[in-house]
Amino acid sequence: MERRTIGAGALEVGAVGLGCMPMSWAYSGSRQRGDESLRAVHRALDEGSSLLDTADMYGPFTNELLVGRVLKERREDAFVSTKVGLLVGEQHIVANGRPGYVKRACDASLRRLQTDVIDLYQLHRADPEVPVEETWGAMAELVRAGKVRALGLCAVGARGGRRSGGLYDGTIRQLRRVQQVFPVSAVEAELSVWSPEALDTLLPWCEARGVGFLAAMPLGNGFLTGTLTPGQGFEPDDMRARHPRFTAEMMAANQPIVVGLRRVAARHGEAVTAAQVALAWVLAQGRHVITVPGAKRERWVTENAAAAALRLTPQDLTEVAELPGAQGSWE
Ligand SMILES: NC(=O)c1ccc[n+]([C@@H]2O[C@H](COP(=O)([O-])OP(=O)(O)OC[C@H]3O[C@@H](n4cnc5c(N)ncnc54)[C@H](OP(=O)(O)O)[C@@H]3O)[C@@H](O)[C@H]2O)c1
Repeated sequence: MERRTIGAGALEVGAVGLGCMPMSWAYSGSRQRGDESLRAVHRALDEGSSLLDTADMYGPFTNELLVGRVLKERREDAFVSTKVGLLVGEQHIVANGRPGYVKRACDASLRRLQTDVIDLYQLHRADPEVPVEETWGAMAELVRAGKVRALGLCAVGARGGRRSGGLYDGTIRQLRRVQQVFPVSAVEAELSVWSPEALDTLLPWCEARGVGFLAAMPLGNGFLTGTLTPGQGFEPDDMRARHPRFTAEMMAANQPIVVGLRRVAARHGEAVTAAQVALAWVLAQGRHVITVPGAKRERWVTENAAAAALRLTPQDLTEVAELPGAQGSWE
């Protein structure tokens, strides 16, 4: 697989990584697919999808435990990215960016991941009660202590309905502040054909500073693969049960996007899928972009890894850019 280099530390990873979240969190059946998920992580490493993206809050904790079972056997094949700063409570998810907490959380993540170093440690969300410089300072100390190789910052996902107009201004302000304390190696934010907002300012900001960009939710939570049927319904524990773009009406209204992706795919051969075009489009947005599609099936992992070799033509890119904007917004 094509390798890409991210951040000040010149960290090298496969262009398509693996988002491990659906194996333990936010998707139907997440908790019942343990062995299949393990096989999927191994498959990703076999395919060169070295970046495994997890977080302590996925599960909570069980996603790191799962990834840890693989890392124990083949640490050298993987680049592990995990996150700190969000705690899952009974009713709510709360931020905690206190320095002492961050250091304890890192030790706990290292234990669950069965490794002595985290390749990329990301601040999941800044804590409004703690100056972000303090949280970042604690994370920088973890680098100096050899527990972490590089630091990243996650941006709150695009909410739809605001194609431009400063959606990521707050994230960029945070990035400027933490850069004063310790270099940012990567930013993780939503980027996909139906949520392209990061292209406006966040992606160029990263490119200009040699900061890697980890494209989360590149398959539009599965919609852009064309394998979901409008009205199919989602289990109550699946975030799409409450997602405004996943009502039967909105899924039907957004079908032209899938049709367009399939049309481009067909030009590249019978075996090429809409999912692969969606991922190749993300990778075409810059050499600093790594995509982390989420999947818990080996079949999807293999298909997604192959997207790294799919080269979209200028005509393909224009056609995707001209697809209708997505309908359905959180606002
Ligand atoms: N930093 C942050 O705040 C943040 C926020 C959200 C996500 N993330 C990261 O981004 C990663 C990706 O986001 P995501 O997983 O939510 O969304 P996604 O990658 O857009 O879509 C994942 C969904 O697509 C399905 N899928 C994957 N490949 C497929 C294929 N080739 N054909 C058909 N269906 C396919 C998966 O199905 P199965 O589950 O059945 O395999 C899963 O339901 C996450 O895993 C997580 O690591 C980070």
